[in-house]
Amino acid sequence: MRFDDQSVVITGGAGGIGQALVELFASEGANVLFSDRSEEDCADFSESLKRKGLDTHFLAGDLRQKTYCEALIAEAVTTFDGVDILINNAGIIPRGNILETNDDMWFSALDVNLTAVFYLCRAAIPHMRAAGGGAIVNTSSVWGIYPGPGHVAYCTSKAAVAALTRNLGRDHAPDGIRVNAVCPNEVNTPMLRSGFIRRGIDPDNAIEELGKTVPLGRVAEPEEIADVIAFLASYEARYICGETVEVTGAKPVYG
Ligand SMILES: NC(=O)c1ccc[n+]([C@@H]2O[C@H](COP(=O)([O-])OP(=O)(O)OC[C@H]3O[C@@H](n4cnc5c(N)ncnc54)[C@H](O)[C@@H]3O)[C@@H](O)[C@H]2O)c1
Repeated sequence: MRFDDQSVVITGGAGGIGQALVELFASEGANVLFSDRSEEDCADFSESLKRKGLDTHFLAGDLRQKTYCEALIAEAVTTFDGVDILINNAGIIPRGNILETNDDMWFSALDVNLTAVFYLCRAAIPHMRAAGGGAIVNTSSVWGIYPGPGHVAYCTSKAAVAALTRNLGRDHAPDGIRVNAVCPNEVNTPMLRSGFIRRGIDPDNAIEELGKTVPLGRVAEPEEIADVIAFLASYEARYICGETVEVTGAKPVYG
């Protein structure tokens, strides 16, 4: 199988895109260690995969803690004897323009979306280098490339992830480590749906309406983003390095 015996760390593994990623990598032969905030959510998801015949490991914790980020990589190294692939997928989306963004929203966005990626990459790269190579796929956003309206902390953090990706891709290509990012537009996950629910809008109707604004005719499903991430992590993408890949159904950022 595509990821046979490869050791994969996935953050945000109990979320929308994260669940699709964990299931995809586990079903393609990988040894998966996933991370998310809630022990209970991780255990429930891991159990549901077990019923499908898929074994996964998890370590719950808060990515805003440097010690937790480092422990996650250490856990993969101890359990699987290394880390071949790191998927930095976890993220949060504080909503608001600069006047609506308090210090906590700003620093939370940077801590989870950017600084955790820095800690995890810094912890994983020496192990990948010692093993002769590896792959890292970060999740940025098209809103990190072209700013979406009224999400200044989120867009800034995602722009920084795109920049970090290009820097690491350049610096660690000689080590055989490919670092790339995926930049989705809207994806049908709790992150997108929670924005509608908060405004008292039915999320199913809203997702259907939003789909009409996408030239491809629908909002992306989590599996469609997971497939691109898996491709970037795979041997088939062996010459792709330091790239930010936009996955948008041809929908531009506007508003
Ligand atoms: N859904 C979209 O429309 C969309 C668009 C572009 C980019 N993205 C990005 O895709 C990635 C996945 O998002 P999603 O849509 O699946 O959202 P989601 O909310 O379903 O999943 C994100 C996961 O990250 C976890 N997480 C958040 N903060 C954490 C912390 N401090 N410690 C540990 N785990 C934490 C959450 O618990 C959650 O399970 C994110 O980086 C997001 O920014 C999403």
